[in-house]
Amino acid sequence: MALRPVNVSREWHSGVENCPKGIFCLGDAVENLEALLPEYEGKVKVVYMDPPFMTGDRFYMRVRVGEEQWQKGRGGIALETFSDQMSRDEYLGLLRRVLELCHRLLSDAGMIFVHIDYRAHPHVRLLLDELFGEDNLLNEIIWVYQSGGRSVRHFSRKHDVILFYRKTARYDFNIDAVKTVPAQPKPNHMRRHVDPDGRIYRSIRSNGKVYTYYDDEPVAPTDVWQDLNHLQQKDPERTGYDAQKPLALLNRIVQCASRPGELVLDPFAGSCTTLEAARRGGRDFIGIDRCPLTVNIARRRLAGADYCIEAASPLDPAPACEASVDMGVGFYRVVLERFDVDIPGLPEDGAPLDAVDNWSVGYLRPEGYRVMAEFARTRREGALRRELSVPVYSGELALCVSDVTGRSFYYAVERE
Ligand SMILES: C[S@@+](CC[C@H](N)C(=O)[O-])C[C@H]1O[C@@H](n2cnc3c(N)ncnc32)[C@H](O)[C@@H]1O
Repeated sequence: MALRPVNVSREWHSGVENCPKGIFCLGDAVENLEALLPEYEGKVKVVYMDPPFMTGDRFYMRVRVGEEQWQKGRGGIALETFSDQMSRDEYLGLLRRVLELCHRLLSDAGMIFVHIDYRAHPHVRLLLDELFGEDNLLNEIIWVYQSGGRSVRHFSRKHDVILFYRKTARYDFNIDAVKTVPAQPKPNHMRRHVDPDGRIYRSIRSNGKVYTYYDDEPVAPTDVWQDLNHLQQKDPERTGYDAQKPLALLNRIVQCASRPGELVLDPFAGSCTTLEAARRGGRDFIGIDRCPLTVNIARRRLAGADYCIEAASPLDPAPACEASVDMGVGFYRVVLERFDVDIPGLPEDGAPLDAVDNWSVGYLRPEGYRVMAEFARTRREGALRRELSVPVYSGELALCVSDVTGRSFYYAVERE
């Protein structure tokens, strides 16, 4: 069975009925936001963005290579994901353009959350005041965390800032969606009581009025978020992508600022945390990132949604790939035999398919490549599943093999 390399710019994944719909665009934020305008202007309900912070650093992802590293959850090669080394002018130029486009994409009921730290904060605050209007600033959220080392040369920096603006006064914010029962009861200078149903409550008298608070009553977060920790080294949520934010943080943002079925946008999506929060919450989503490794993460975190990956095929010649195909009654069984990709830094004594991170079988159709069966390595299933079966369907049978650096290569199956 011969495999013919083909260029694909849209990869379609189907989810269950009525599941959220999404797009993940691999590429530059400005170019992709401009391309979204004709269809999505005024349609986005919430934008969250976590752009580079002007740190001057480079960021990496440790990728696992082959069965053993996946199963042990150790080892791998560190690949650069992005370099945060823009000058201040370049940085603010990029953010200005991205924010202008997001402003146009937001609906009148929409809101934006811009996540930054102490370095970029004053500049971005002024930019947002100018573009969204000072009166539309809703909160300067302080996200406090404990992770990381302690400094002796100054106080340790243990917070980020999330600037929260509405587009117009007709914004639709839902505080009830993010109320939680506090882990700690109210401070105990209040009197403690037990009501006839056995529920504990506290009371305090102020200006002749008695205020009561039940311990099990959900409470809304304030603008200081201390209850959501950064991901720890061994956190099962970790993808290996530096700068990954916790899902709990994005769940809060997505839930208070949008409702099921509405559209969430993240133009610097990284490891796709926002998109996963949207998918889980039944919201539609659009994510953009220019680091190719994010595509491999998207395929894992967006499983179950109806989504499309928009990415130009790599320019390199496609590596030699071999597969065998058998036809059963109403289905094809495809076995991946060989994938000779050259990746600097990979151990030479590795197994032949070690460089494969994930692969799929599907059909080339007018809309692009439609995935029918896919496999991505996980900690539980580190060994590559080499066999995938797909139903007979319209279009040309094809497969996509993605290497550990995030490049995806597509091949049409030519039957002899
Ligand atoms: C701080 S990370 C985002 C992390 C993300 N919130 C998460 O939870 O994983 C910033 C991201 O912006 C991306 N990026 C930087 N400049 C970009 C640009 N001009 N266009 C698109 N993506 C860009 C980087 O590749 C990186 O993934």
